[in-house]
Amino acid sequence: MHTDTIVVTGGAGFIGSNFVNAWVKLKLGKLVNLDKLTYAGNMENLAEISHDPDHVFIHADIGDRAAVKTLLETHKPRAVLNFAAESHVDRSIHGPDAFIQTNVVGTFNLLEEVRAYWQALPVESQQSFRFLHVSTDEVYGSLEPNDPAFKETNPYQPNSPYSASKAASDHLVRAYHHTYGLPTLTTNCSNNYGPYHFPEKLIPLVIHNALSGKPLPIYGNGSNIRDWLYVEDHCNAIREVLAKGLPGETYNIGGWNEKTNLDVVHTLCDILDQEQPKAQGSYRDQITFVKDRPGHDLRYAIDASKIEQTLGWKPQETFETGIRKTVRWYLEHTQWVERVTSGEYQHWLSTNYHERGEELA
Ligand code: NAD
Ligand code: DAU
Repeated sequence: MHTDTIVVTGGAGFIGSNFVNAWVKLKLGKLVNLDKLTYAGNMENLAEISHDPDHVFIHADIGDRAAVKTLLETHKPRAVLNFAAESHVDRSIHGPDAFIQTNVVGTFNLLEEVRAYWQALPVESQQSFRFLHVSTDEVYGSLEPNDPAFKETNPYQPNSPYSASKAASDHLVRAYHHTYGLPTLTTNCSNNYGPYHFPEKLIPLVIHNALSGKPLPIYGNGSNIRDWLYVEDHCNAIREVLAKGLPGETYNIGGWNEKTNLDVVHTLCDILDQEQPKAQGSYRDQITFVKDRPGHDLRYAIDASKIEQTLGWKPQETFETGIRKTVRWYLEHTQWVERVTSGEYQHWLSTNYHERGEELA
């Protein structure tokens, strides 16, 4: 086993590319990045490290067992971190198949190949090996306004095809630890935001639409609550869990930043009004209330006490500092946004927003 090599899956997506860029820039060792390059995966997210010999990119599906087997045998990693997933709730409502295929069947196939690789390692390498599965707070379901935040002990109550598929993958990971002894770690994080966030998700979509003079679509009345964490803080937390987490444990990750969607959109409009004022009026004038998401979870909130107390992790960014950084990143990367919003993205806009009474494409 090469003690400095790790494998990351889904490292060309939003969180994965932030993780990969940071890992390589911090010179933490060789990183082999396996990604299928779906609509959400983008090599441009990795441009800054494209010539770095510590980054090896492999274009493959986590469900392709032959490709995963070859990768593991060739690179002999000390850890596999699984970020790869279909990640957008609205897409899971329109087409759940890909979510079952990648998040459930794909994770199963990956686990099987990792198990075979791990079982063939010498005993001391088996003990230090880790399989870290990146998951979401959505597996816990939805909270009422006065409920306590999600703890690791909350029951799983997923409500969308996306969260159900992630819950299924979490259960498989748990079972591989209990049944086979595979040294697994699972992280359940709240909503991320930051650079390279694909503009199908609320925050980048609102920034992009605001600057394009388009409506800012708010589902329902905008009172749904999400708990926001800057993506670099999530990546730091994953590195801490990988280094210090106990095999078989799960860790909730969040920044104690609950906001209603309307508050988030107001904040984005106010920052844009300061950073790039319109000729007349405010970006708030573009806000439009549209038909709600079916089965829309009311509230997510993460209790991050366990990771804070046992691993000493704390977020560096407040929502106020992180969201301003994010707006500035989008203002400075208009060409990235233009490129990722051409092609398939236009089709998605007409599919999702036409039925909500808005034409955004
Ligand atoms: P994303 O959609 O931006 O990126 C997913 C990446 O996985 C893409 O690069 C895509 O090409 C790749 N991928 C998809 N299917 C694949 C397959 N079958 N084989 C190999 N690669 C494949 O997602 P994200 O927002 O970066 O989320 C990453 C992970 O973090 C996911 O597991 C998600 O459930 C979890 N998560 C996301 C958030 C969030 O707020 N975005 C919060 C908590 C947890
Ligand atoms: O909680 C973690 C999850 O956060 C991750 O597991 C998912 O991968 C990630 O996509 C995210 O899921 P959400 O559904 O919370 O994120 P999204 O950005 O799609 O929506 C955030 C909130 O904003 C949600 O209440 C729906 C609402 N919304 C979203 C869009 C795209 C709108 O009001 N209008 C929109 O156009």
